[in-house]
Amino acid sequence: MRTSTIGGAAIAAALGFAGVASAANATEWKSRSIYQVMIDRYALTDGSTDATCEMHEFCGGTWRGLLNNLDYIQDMGFTALQISPIVKNIDEDTAVGTAYHGYWPVDNYALNDKYGTEQDFRDLVDELHRRDMLLMVDVVVNHMAQAFDNVVPPKVDYSKLNPFDDEKYFHPYCNVTEWENSTNYQDCWLYPYGIALADLATETTEVADEMNKWIAELVANYSIDGLRIDAAKHVNDEFLPGFVEASGVFSLGEVLTGEPDDMCRYQTLGLLPGMPNYLDFYKLNSAFNGGSLVDLAHIRNSGATACNDTLALGTFIENHDMPRFASMNDDLALAKNAMTYVLLNDGIPTVYQGQEQHFKGNGTPFNREPLWDSKYNKSAPLYTLTATLNMVRNQAIKLSSDYIPTPSKTLWADINHFCLKKGTSGKQVVFCINNKSSMGDSYEVSVGGFQPNDEVVEVLGCKTTTADATGNITMYMGRGEPKAYVLASFLDGTGICEQTNADAPVPDNGAGALTAATSMLLAAVVGTAVALLA
Ligand SMILES: *[C@@H]1O[C@H](CO)[C@@H](O)[C@H](O)[C@H]1NC(C)=O
Ligand SMILES: *[C@@H]1O[C@H](CO)[C@@H](O)[C@H](O)[C@H]1NC(C)=O
Ligand SMILES: *[C@@H]1O[C@H](CO)[C@@H](O)[C@H](O)[C@H]1NC(C)=O
Ligand SMILES: *[C@@H]1O[C@H](CO)[C@@H](O)[C@H](O)[C@H]1NC(C)=O
Ligand SMILES: *[C@@H]1O[C@H](CO)[C@@H](O)[C@H](O)[C@H]1NC(C)=O
Ligand SMILES: *[C@@H]1O[C@H](CO)[C@@H](O)[C@H](O)[C@H]1NC(C)=O
Ligand SMILES: *[C@@H]1O[C@H](CO)[C@@H](O)[C@H](O)[C@H]1NC(C)=O
Ligand SMILES: *[C@@H]1O[C@H](CO)[C@@H](O)[C@H](O)[C@H]1NC(C)=O
Repeated sequence: MRTSTIGGAAIAAALGFAGVASAANATEWKSRSIYQVMIDRYALTDGSTDATCEMHEFCGGTWRGLLNNLDYIQDMGFTALQISPIVKNIDEDTAVGTAYHGYWPVDNYALNDKYGTEQDFRDLVDELHRRDMLLMVDVVVNHMAQAFDNVVPPKVDYSKLNPFDDEKYFHPYCNVTEWENSTNYQDCWLYPYGIALADLATETTEVADEMNKWIAELVANYSIDGLRIDAAKHVNDEFLPGFVEASGVFSLGEVLTGEPDDMCRYQTLGLLPGMPNYLDFYKLNSAFNGGSLVDLAHIRNSGATACNDTLALGTFIENHDMPRFASMNDDLALAKNAMTYVLLNDGIPTVYQGQEQHFKGNGTPFNREPLWDSKYNKSAPLYTLTATLNMVRNQAIKLSSDYIPTPSKTLWADINHFCLKKGTSGKQVVFCINNKSSMGDSYEVSVGGFQPNDEVVEVLGCKTTTADATGNITMYMGRGEPKAYVLASFLDGTGICEQTNADAPVPDNGAGALTAATSMLLAAVVGTAVALLA
């Protein structure tokens, strides 16, 4: 019987420590910006870009290919990498393809030779560290894998698994069917089709002790700086803090839920230091797909109340598990707004490879397009946008040690707009996203966040403006473009917006000016907006 309702204090007491001991390193991770790589799909060893890719099979990306092409990532301003799992996986082709992605482990003590040699991996880590970038490695703790013939229960040859080479280390077979029943989704086997994901009995001392020994060695052997814990929600609660503690590094544990209490309990009970922020993910997506930005503002407030450290959450709009943003709506202005929120929100920005190329793949595996298809185009509009936003964030961090620890404040939120101020006055970044799309009308909005007469630059358009006597600036909206403002002095020496023009109304794009009806709608939501100025 699971004890998933056990309190955090009891867990901490049982394990002999208070909270997650890697909290200090959370500080380091909070100021980073993560680019997520799926090794098989990032770069070929020879750097060529015309290979075709069968989406369910290995396509040939390697650690060496990534190492040879780190400039593409660093030139976008990222300061950390998250890579797909590194240990040996099944070799077989199954009814659901091969283990190109790395999530089907068979041997925790061998590196995956499909991605290169041990030397290749060590060289990659050394080069990242030489560039002052951190490495987060994705790890699988929920299961070990074996191909099977789809006859249930799966007949697994446990002797082929290392180190868990006996049935006694696993839960008896049952299929996860009840996604609200934690005993079911933690003890049963995920997705039993083509591949048997034999579910580890992580609640047993033998399995937990071995996992903890393994992760301590893996982190030490390869100088890993952080972990993403795959399917963290599918192992028992009590396993997690011991594992994180044993690793000695910061972790983002995957807890797939849009409910603040369900997600945040992992943090407030001290089970995990951080999680990818699925709360914002769902609302950010819906705001650009017929929903409202007020809902994003609300979930942000709920998350801030339910979690005890939203700064340690990973903000994202795409990852390898979810349909690409552009698969739902490929309007470029919307993608720019989503990217702006991801990079400038509180928390650790996490951008999945191909997002900066506006890839449009739908569900798995189509959301895992090989990046070489883009020819690594550094002129792509979302690539240049990401570079600017990372530069702005990195500059804010450099200018002020208060930037990261200061949670951003809502300046304005209505159904179409969400404006926030991050950082302390003098070094702040004011940004506004909207969901009007590239068909958006032209209009002006007054927004605060500055001091009277401040000289301000809108960095995405390189336009200058001066704050009025109340510290407000006029945003000249049009074509649905996002906005990000800093003091002119903030940009000194950065190379950002070396040429600027005075800001002015955006010529109307023919989609129609702000109508009286829209004005009234805006007026009607002022009440909501005021309620959100928390
Ligand atoms: C969050 O709560 C956990 C468990 O009580 C605690 O260990 C941790 O230090 C807290 N984090 C912050 C930032 O307060
Ligand atoms: C975490 O990282 C910081 C910054 O690199 C470092 O100074 C600190 O020693 C680390 N803390 C622990 C507990 O390892
Ligand atoms: C397992 O359950 C899922 C529903 O969660 C179902 O789609 C699938 O067919 C089941 N597989 C087996 C082998 O029973
Ligand atoms: C939850 O799932 C477990 C394992 O499948 C099952 O034994 C139990 O009856 C389920 N509980 C409820 C309340 O349905
Ligand atoms: C770490 O390195 C040691 C020494 O080479 C080796 O015995 C051990 O198996 C390695 N552990 C892992 C998890 O790679
Ligand atoms: C933006 O929000 C409005 C109001 O909620 C909604 O009607 C509209 O469909 C949203 N736009 C997009 C592109 O989803
Ligand atoms: C790179 O992107 C830019 C901007 O979208 C485009 O003009 C150019 O043709 C692209 N180059 C290649 C080689 O695709
Ligand atoms: C200043 O901006 C805030 C939003 O940040 C807005 O509520 C207020 O009405 C603006 N003031 C003026 C005078 O327009």
